[in-house]
Amino acid sequence: MKRILTYGTFDLLHWGHIRLLKRARAQGDYLAVALSTEEFNESKGKKTYHDFETRKAMLEAVRYVDLVIPEEHWEQKISDVQKYEIDAVVMGGDWEGDPRFEILRDHCEVIYLDRTEGISTTKIKNDLGENA
Ligand code: CTP
Repeated sequence: MKRILTYGTFDLLHWGHIRLLKRARAQGDYLAVALSTEEFNESKGKKTYHDFETRKAMLEAVRYVDLVIPEEHWEQKISDVQKYEIDAVVMGGDWEGDPRFEILRDHCEVIYLDRTEGISTTKIKNDLGENA
């Protein structure tokens, strides 16, 4: 059983997220998603539209997702990998080379997947905002 872990906010769930989750799950047999909490987002100056419980419920409804855990701070990644016996951490290409993920190479595989062009939560918020 190869266990995969990915991190993200997954606020306005969109096609780019679904493609990422599908391809992440296809790297193994089990996919855990570490989902940023509202407090963690606040510390980064980000505010989500949906609260944590709603974002968690949406991810749990996606067939590629086996488990959702909270992401509460930057430093938890190594302990997540150990606790959930993770074989590979998978992230979108926007994170390629980021030391916060590269450091995990001592503990598991680190895989970056291409981002889906032309869509993001930020873009959806901006586009809908313009039409409101
Ligand atoms: N992702 C992707 N393709 C997109 C958007 C996101 O592959 N078009 C991936 C990211 O690389 C990340 C995961 O989905 O691995 C969660 O990304 P998140 O930051 O929650 O989504 P965004 O839509 O990028 O949100 P924002 O605009 O707030 O940054």
